[in-house]
Amino acid sequence: MSNAPILITGAAGFIGFHTATRLLQAGRSVVGIDNLNDYYDPALKEARLQQLDNFAEFQCVQGDISDKAAMEKLWAEKGPFKEVIHLAAQAGVRYSLENPYSYITSNCMGHLTVMEMCRHTEGFKHLVYASSSSVYGGNEKLPYAVEDPVDHPISLYAATKRADELMSHTYSHLYDIPQTGLRFFTVYGPWGRPDMALFIFTKAIIEGRPIPVFNNGEMKRDFTYVDDIVSGILGALDHPPVREGRKAPCRVLNIGNNRSERLMDFVELIEKELGRKADINFLPLQPGDVPETFADIRAINELTGYKPTTTIAEGIPRFVAWYKDYYNIES
Ligand SMILES: NC(=O)c1ccc[n+]([C@@H]2O[C@H](COP(=O)([O-])OP(=O)(O)OC[C@H]3O[C@@H](n4cnc5c(N)ncnc54)[C@H](O)[C@@H]3O)[C@@H](O)[C@H]2O)c1
Repeated sequence: MSNAPILITGAAGFIGFHTATRLLQAGRSVVGIDNLNDYYDPALKEARLQQLDNFAEFQCVQGDISDKAAMEKLWAEKGPFKEVIHLAAQAGVRYSLENPYSYITSNCMGHLTVMEMCRHTEGFKHLVYASSSSVYGGNEKLPYAVEDPVDHPISLYAATKRADELMSHTYSHLYDIPQTGLRFFTVYGPWGRPDMALFIFTKAIIEGRPIPVFNNGEMKRDFTYVDDIVSGILGALDHPPVREGRKAPCRVLNIGNNRSERLMDFVELIEKELGRKADINFLPLQPGDVPETFADIRAINELTGYKPTTTIAEGIPRFVAWYKDYYNIES
């Protein structure tokens, strides 16, 4: 394996942290950039970086990917980067109703700036970037396949992720930048995000508070364990698309678990692990949210051999164990 540094944007984030860890464990050199914003507790982001600092081959710069000057400085001082895993974004469907501007800045301007840097890098190999299952919007056909229509996003978050895919196609076509967009399906696991269901439910059950369950519990999600996601990201990184005639060197792929689980089964597994019953506050479906997701993963499987191996019955206890350890909670 070459040891040219790989850039991970959003390295202090949930998926960025796990991706960096796997690469560093394999002996790769990793440079991260993250603005450590306070969308959720920055102390968790700092704690993830502290773990990564145990590796000599890791360094992280605090900066904003939408800031062209900061990105040029990063490339000049720590690059050039020929492989980029671009995960920095303003995540979250619900928050995009509250703070729309941060989505355009980080997800659209940020994505453009990352692509501009790649465009001006001689011998650039591959940009792998995070898209989202939310691009499927209100589609009713399940499972969601890559070729299904994605022109009806129902949240601004989804619209920015779809915009990224379109911008990426244009840049690949114009400048021959190999790019792979990965549509992640509900990622969970240790060091997970405090704004996501598993974290919110675990915390509330421990603290004896009710948990909000939307669409009166009639929700299904393709929950994907973070280690499986990292395998998918790194498998994709090793398979840069090539130009085929007039077809630009770019593609999008789903990464999910290929199982749509009932949210109430997910809740039961958390209850079982905590040994406590949840007090459930049933609520209507939230604007921008969809009742069910389910990933068709044939394309990534055929390309990279990707095969998720972690069931929610295995993954949830690992999250709960991490949560208790991190927050010093006695069993
Ligand atoms: N976790 C999921 O279930 C999920 C599902 C679909 C898509 N995604 C996408 O995967 C990627 C990673 O998600 P995550 O769950 O790790 O989220 P995360 O919020 O934990 O990580 C994103 C990181 O990017 C950083 N960041 C945000 N805006 C930035 C900017 N302008 N400049 C520099 N850094 C910035 C944040 O500080 C954060 O540390 C995101 O693009 C997200 O949209 C995640």
